[in-house]
Amino acid sequence: MASPRERPAGAASQIFGPAFAAEYASLWSQFARRIASGVVRILQRKGVRTGTVVDLGCGPGTLAAHLSARGYQVIGIDRSQPMLSLAQVVAPTARFMVADLRQARLPAADAIVSTFDTLNYLTRAQDLRRLFGRVARALRPGGVFLFDLLTPDELRRNPPEEHLAYRSAVAIVVVEIKRRRRSGRIRHTITTLPRLATGTSRAVEIHEQRVFAPRPVEQWLRAAGFEVRRRPGYPGRFRQAGRTVFVAVRRAS
Ligand SMILES: C[S@@+](CC[C@H](N)C(=O)[O-])C[C@H]1O[C@@H](n2cnc3c(N)ncnc32)[C@H](O)[C@@H]1O
Repeated sequence: MASPRERPAGAASQIFGPAFAAEYASLWSQFARRIASGVVRILQRKGVRTGTVVDLGCGPGTLAAHLSARGYQVIGIDRSQPMLSLAQVVAPTARFMVADLRQARLPAADAIVSTFDTLNYLTRAQDLRRLFGRVARALRPGGVFLFDLLTPDELRRNPPEEHLAYRSAVAIVVVEIKRRRRSGRIRHTITTLPRLATGTSRAVEIHEQRVFAPRPVEQWLRAAGFEVRRRPGYPGRFRQAGRTVFVAVRRAS
């Protein structure tokens, strides 16, 4: 894709705060639930049937819980402490670390996964490329790096502006989406409004993401030491235009 201006994530460190993290867990963790068995299927097909799986941007721990139940030792990494507090409850046998993926030292692993466009939060290509290098060093030869990314197709197939509203038991979440095709950016302005008189106030977060064209991503993965396959979705039911799944296997040398 045309190279968008590189800029640091900036205000993104304030995102997935306590109010929205709880709503994310209640309204959006269905995605991780729907793909979890497909993730395990890919890991197993690639020979990772046991061992350590690191979940990058693990959020509220939905996938971590599923992987733990399937016998993997799971380490979840996320920079949102509210997300990790939720994750610890649903996946009590997993370990969790608060860290930013742009700098985090990654533990040795048999597989590393990252789902639901978490890596699109790395809005500078160099951060994604450096992460690929650290992932390659953390994985054993034959280890699997499985992740999805939103691609420029997401911007082509959806309107430049959208306003959506969701209702959970305790809050209303209003999401304003702005898609910028030329810069390859997606901005979500997310307002969480409590429905009950709980004493909590309205919270506003701005989420900045960047789409990545699949071909350069594949090249960066190969340069980092991976064999790469692309899939239009996770096995089973979940497929979404504009989301590509990458299955990268660490080469022996
Ligand atoms: C869209 S949620 C996905 C959560 C989970 N993977 C899932 O499938 O539901 C993105 C997650 O990535 C985390 N995240 C975003 N940027 C990050 C960064 N630079 N370092 C660590 N975590 C990050 C957020 O805190 C959030 O929990």
